[in-house]
Amino acid sequence: DWSPDSIVDAQVARVREQVGEHGEVVLGLSGGVDSSVAAVILHKAIGDRLHCIFVDNGLLRKGERQVVETLFGEHFQMDLTVVDAGAKFLAELAGVTDPERKRKIIGHEFVEVFREEAKRFKQANFLGQGTLYPDVIESIAAHGGSTDVIKSHHNVGGLPDDLEMELIEPLRELFKDEVRAIGRQLGLASVVVDRQPFPGPGLAVRIVGEITPENVRLLQEADAIVTSEIEAVGADEGLWQYFAVLLPVKSVGVMGDARTYESCCALRVVQSEDAMTADWAYLPQELLQRISNRIINEVRGINRVVLDISSKPPATIEWE
Ligand code: XMP
Repeated sequence: DWSPDSIVDAQVARVREQVGEHGEVVLGLSGGVDSSVAAVILHKAIGDRLHCIFVDNGLLRKGERQVVETLFGEHFQMDLTVVDAGAKFLAELAGVTDPERKRKIIGHEFVEVFREEAKRFKQANFLGQGTLYPDVIESIAAHGGSTDVIKSHHNVGGLPDDLEMELIEPLRELFKDEVRAIGRQLGLASVVVDRQPFPGPGLAVRIVGEITPENVRLLQEADAIVTSEIEAVGADEGLWQYFAVLLPVKSVGVMGDARTYESCCALRVVQSEDAMTADWAYLPQELLQRISNRIINEVRGINRVVLDISSKPPATIEWE
């Protein structure tokens, strides 16, 4: 019986068996589907002996932190710690433009912040992760067939193995579709279960060039308009990802009687099966027009919107 209900029951029972009567679990919650569903299963299994840590790295989409606080803290009543680390991340990223360096810095900062927070749960002897079956397989393949490894490029950022905690992975036998079905079954809101993939390094890899607080703000505002306009007319159906990218380009515009010289953002909208290949997607002209008008009128600091019509390969989905 592979109904979502029976999968949940089976995983809850396994968690209880592994964790025992008194064990405690620390879990890095990212707001993505996998860690969210893992959190709900763990919470169902052990309640307050689950401690969730959400790191606000200052590179989240607009409103993302509130969604996590409301859903997990208030609705599910989990023990949730939200770490306000935006200033720290942005300070470390100041002046950095190389995409891979951005990723390295963010991964490193995440581990530091998480480790510091996890210290408060000294009594916890388990580290929860939302590892899926395909992650397990990929990881085994990448390590020459050894099953005794922790996936290093996991979204959680490659957690330190010197935390001396035992891994607990309630999704490690499941595929993405099953995880989504379980998430719905467990009452996770559609904003979490059906959400588009979002890279671990967040908006850092969608701000081409230097990351500044002002650039983050511009991109958050523009991206929120892209998302809400597309979703308002149901155009997200069949899309893999749809988002805005901030370019390190300024151009001349005109607003009223005045000349402007402001930033430019690109619209990235793709269809894909697995992110290995992707096609840029058509959107109706009126929708494109509305998105462009709203961004230029409402986001002071952006005066031009361009459309990315590149497929993968040879382009990639993200710009960095
Ligand atoms: P690209 O840009 O390589 O992206 O075509 C393929 C898929 O992977 C996501 N992506 C990332 N996810 N950390 C992540 O967790 C990353 O550093 C990262 N880079 C890209 C991207 O959003 C797309 O779905």
